[in-house]
Amino acid sequence: MNYTAILEDIYHQVKPLLTQGQITDTIPELAHISPLKFGMAVQTIDGSLFQIGDAAEKFSIQSISKVFALTMAMQLEGDNIWTRIGREPSGTAFNSLVQLEYENGIPRNPFINAGALVVTDMIISHLGDARRSLLDFIHKLSDEQGIDYDHDVAHSERETGFRNAALANFLKSFGNLNNAPADVLGAYIHHCSLSMSCVELARSSTYLANGGKLPWNDETIIAANQAKYINSLMLTCGTYDSVGDFAYRVGLPAKSGVGGGILAVMPNEFSVCVWSPGLNPSGNSLAGTKALELFTTLTGISVF
Ligand code: DON
Repeated sequence: MNYTAILEDIYHQVKPLLTQGQITDTIPELAHISPLKFGMAVQTIDGSLFQIGDAAEKFSIQSISKVFALTMAMQLEGDNIWTRIGREPSGTAFNSLVQLEYENGIPRNPFINAGALVVTDMIISHLGDARRSLLDFIHKLSDEQGIDYDHDVAHSERETGFRNAALANFLKSFGNLNNAPADVLGAYIHHCSLSMSCVELARSSTYLANGGKLPWNDETIIAANQAKYINSLMLTCGTYDSVGDFAYRVGLPAKSGVGGGILAVMPNEFSVCVWSPGLNPSGNSLAGTKALELFTTLTGISVF
């Protein structure tokens, strides 16, 4: 497969779309990023890397961090997670409050903000310091010790993230947080502020394409069936209220973030990450979604 030529073709085709999305306005620190940024990286499980554009430039991974936090919670709690979080698409915005009220404080899935707050609470209960432990975990997954939080982004979200503060307090009122809402929120916001490139994200998620193991040393991160569960959740819940449209067009498990990144996994083959900051109304990268649609169309490779 000539991935290099395919990536070049994709970059050419999505260029006119780069200015059509909306840069996130929920985190002021991210508002001034150029919409012309575009990067894409493919990391195969047999060790080949293909990249184009700004694939090596770091960006704010935001909700993509929910995949790594969920993996940690699965390591720590296994199926007990599902007594406190659902596994269904929400059909509502990622930061919606209303559904949580009528579903008695049980978030629909671990990829909406409320679900990720509960996941973060689980990590704190087991490990105490959820900031340090997620960072250590990312260093292991990426084999790259330089990855860090962007404290300016975290601070910016802390100052303005009133909906997440409401969600954390709401969860606590339903008895679905064991730790202090402010502590859970602080760790969650830091997780979202992780600064990583497409190359680093594609590499860090190869365990999901490789039956739960790091491809370069065969270390088990999670059991093969748990990797299947996470991929399934990405397919059904990873791109919020446009998850149906995304699955139709792209045909891969994927997780997006409001920084404009989208991570997608092709089991037994590769991880692919795309970054373009302009978002569609659901909060998924507009050109990034198109790039992944083109990628599965041009390669003929998808889970379907
Ligand atoms: O909590 C938030 O709203 C942001 N830190 C992350 C949201 C996000 O990335 C949703 N993704 N598309």
